[in-house]
Amino acid sequence: MRFSRRMDNLAPYLFAEMERRISDKRKSGVDVISLGIGDPDLPTPAYIVEEMRRQVADAGNHRYPSNWGLPEFGEAVASFYKRRFGVDLDPAKEFFPLLGAKEGLAHVCMALLDAGDLALVPDPGYPVYSGGSIMLGAEVKYLNLRPETGFLPDLEAISEDEARRAKVLFIGYPNNPTAAVVEDDFFERVVAFAKKYDIAVIHDNAYSELTYDGYVAPSFLGVPGAKDVGVEFFSFSKPFNMTGWRIGFAVGNHEILSHLWRLKTNLDSGMFDALQRTAAFILNGPWDFVHEMCEVYRRRRDLLAEALVSAGMQVPKPKGTIYMWIPVPAGYTSASFSEHVLEQAGVVVTPGRGYGPAGEGFVRLSLTTPDDRIAEAVGRIERSLRL
Ligand SMILES: Cc1ncc(COP(=O)(O)O)c(C=O)c1O
Repeated sequence: MRFSRRMDNLAPYLFAEMERRISDKRKSGVDVISLGIGDPDLPTPAYIVEEMRRQVADAGNHRYPSNWGLPEFGEAVASFYKRRFGVDLDPAKEFFPLLGAKEGLAHVCMALLDAGDLALVPDPGYPVYSGGSIMLGAEVKYLNLRPETGFLPDLEAISEDEARRAKVLFIGYPNNPTAAVVEDDFFERVVAFAKKYDIAVIHDNAYSELTYDGYVAPSFLGVPGAKDVGVEFFSFSKPFNMTGWRIGFAVGNHEILSHLWRLKTNLDSGMFDALQRTAAFILNGPWDFVHEMCEVYRRRRDLLAEALVSAGMQVPKPKGTIYMWIPVPAGYTSASFSEHVLEQAGVVVTPGRGYGPAGEGFVRLSLTTPDDRIAEAVGRIERSLRL
């Protein structure tokens, strides 16, 4: 059979390979503890499941949805953005429902990039930014995220020629995988840069609600002029333990959203109305559950950090996301350390190299595992390092 050349450059998704390895280990009888993928271990809260049950039973929700989404969902998003971020949105023009942020991120590449175009992609970064760009034959310029610069890309280091060629810039804070947050005027600098070089900015806001130690994450759209240059992607997956439900949305620049709309009218038929009404219900409802989840992850973060520090590792404590980005001990690469803990401790950690070349020297640990399993995992890692 003959396949498209596009597929030749497209590696399987990072976690697809990892899932296979975990499954092989489990089949061979190893009690594997995964600190790999960021998939919440706790269920979607009952009040959300109950609302979805009610909406599914309503025959008014059973027909084709519209790609632009229900006004009810758009209005709930606009009022959430106003309340939470102080951002004004016109729900008729500046909101677009997504079947998860991942889908939107991959498809927005199709709306913005042609073969040979240049995409500015953080390194390390969520793999869809580079994967979505490469799939289209676009060229990727990696922007190094280093601890010394708070894991923010150095926009000044981009050459004049590359800045002129670039069509899109991906950013995302609180950041996956580095867990860094924005605490300065970075978003203002991004808007100025994007305006100067006519670059579309995609801000991935999948983790804004999961923050700790009093830190409150801002929206990229909170910066004056941001809507002129970019869009922001929000996801229900992590704050509400809804990874399996596939709900997200994009907000911001109308031109980008209407291109995404035109594209997606040719690809899918929108989001199940029952899900959209449930999403509106969630956004209009109380935020207590999210606060409880923040407390769960903060506790696990502290548990993991204390145990790893006593095992002799260097462990920065993040203010956001559900991850810890940890330098590997001396003498290991990100792959050899991950391999070591899998083979010797039966613990899965994600090699930083999987997020791009600058992820070398780090591993990512996810906090989406129960406390007792985290404690067990760290005990095993500690013993394996003494071997
Ligand atoms: C940075 C980032 N963006 C987007 C997503 C995907 O979100 P969704 O489940 O809404 O597709 C993830 C999931 O891990 C993520 O880490």
